[in-house]
Amino acid sequence: MERFVVAGGARLAGEVTVTGAKNSVLKLMAASLLAEGRTQLTAVPDILDVSIMSEVLRRLGCTVTRGERSVTIDVPAELKHEADYDLVRRMRASIAVLGPLVARCGEAKVALPGGDAIGSRGLDFHIAGLVKLGAHIESEHGYLIATAPRLTGAQVWLDFPSVGATENLLMASVLAKGTTTIDNAAREPDIVDLCDFLVAMGASIEGIGTSTLVVEGVERLTPVEHETLPDRIVAGTWAYAAALTRGDVYIRGGRPEHLEIALDKLAMAGAQVRADLDGFRVTMDGRPKSVDVVTLPYPGFPTDLQPMVLALNAVAEGTAMVTENVFEARWMFVNELTRLGADVRTDGHHAVVRGRERLSGAPVRAHDIRAGAALVLAGLVAEGVTEVADVHHIDRGYEGFVESLVALGADVRREDVEDELPF
Ligand code: UD1
Repeated sequence: MERFVVAGGARLAGEVTVTGAKNSVLKLMAASLLAEGRTQLTAVPDILDVSIMSEVLRRLGCTVTRGERSVTIDVPAELKHEADYDLVRRMRASIAVLGPLVARCGEAKVALPGGDAIGSRGLDFHIAGLVKLGAHIESEHGYLIATAPRLTGAQVWLDFPSVGATENLLMASVLAKGTTTIDNAAREPDIVDLCDFLVAMGASIEGIGTSTLVVEGVERLTPVEHETLPDRIVAGTWAYAAALTRGDVYIRGGRPEHLEIALDKLAMAGAQVRADLDGFRVTMDGRPKSVDVVTLPYPGFPTDLQPMVLALNAVAEGTAMVTENVFEARWMFVNELTRLGADVRTDGHHAVVRGRERLSGAPVRAHDIRAGAALVLAGLVAEGVTEVADVHHIDRGYEGFVESLVALGADVRREDVEDELPF
């Protein structure tokens, strides 16, 4: 077990480079299963989730080689079709192999996932969509078993623009017979990246970037080389870190057009945001002002930056309401933030944050990737020392988080924790 020890009182200043997007690369890796042969992905972040997905693919029969910022996946003609609980429970995104496996092998057996502790995150939209495409699905002994000798195009309406369901249905339908329409599809940049990748492989997809995707199934796809798009949530984390610490950070590789509302909120809080061709810079003089935020599917305010805006509001001038519409139980972070002295009350989907002049360092625990990163940011502006435990969550999504913070002037270190209690 490891923890981060964060000294309060930092002002972040300097430059940080954004890595490829976690939420994109994991799906690109899963989509590589759709074509026999060698796929090469570049701008791949060095994070735990990429290691987990590499292992998922290896156990399906692929040869996966990691290079500096790249991953090469050799997909055999005959794939195995089972993703076991051992791996899927460690990373919910493993469910992304479901669609490609049914499309490619006619069958898939994928363990029901665990993953982040942020709400129930059902799979009903994934299942209903695959059933529409002609798959037979049952659940047995903790596994989803899907079979379909050949998927057939269909009209699918999603109740909610789920990122994971849109991706699974896209990956299933590109090899289906006939036309599939996915209505109320998610529009996240990660989905556009996946569509671009599939199109380069030979898929036919119309409406990319809109909420109606029309896929004309093809007989086969061919492997390609593809560069992962930059991680907008990592870029957003650094933007909020700069504002929170009243700092001045240039976020190289960050794409402001993928973060419009999140950066607009920062401007409303008093930050200056200036973009150029290579990234953007966030500068904050003085105490931030409170900002109300409502999380929504893209292009709304991203739920993955909700913990960061809560942390900002915790030290801002005024009172703010933060409304969470995407995940139902994403308030576990609030309990940890209040341990640092934040004044936050939650009621259903809403959190009311009364800004305090200062927070006070304490031991806290990361429950998921983004909450973990936000606790580190809160620790940077708390008085004294904050120890963030369970940092393996942060390692799942942030490459070299501590090293980047140190380069920006923070006093943060990683240390081993020995559990002294025998139970
Ligand atoms: C992805 C991202 C995650 C981000 C989320 C929303 C990855 C690896 N993770 O997660 O970082 O926070 O999008 O932007 O890309 N739902 C159902 N039934 C379903 C599917 C989803 O009820 O079949 C619900 C979920 O419980 C949740 C909401 O829909 O409340 C959104 O989930 P979804 O968009 O599918 O998120 P993920 O793909 O899991």
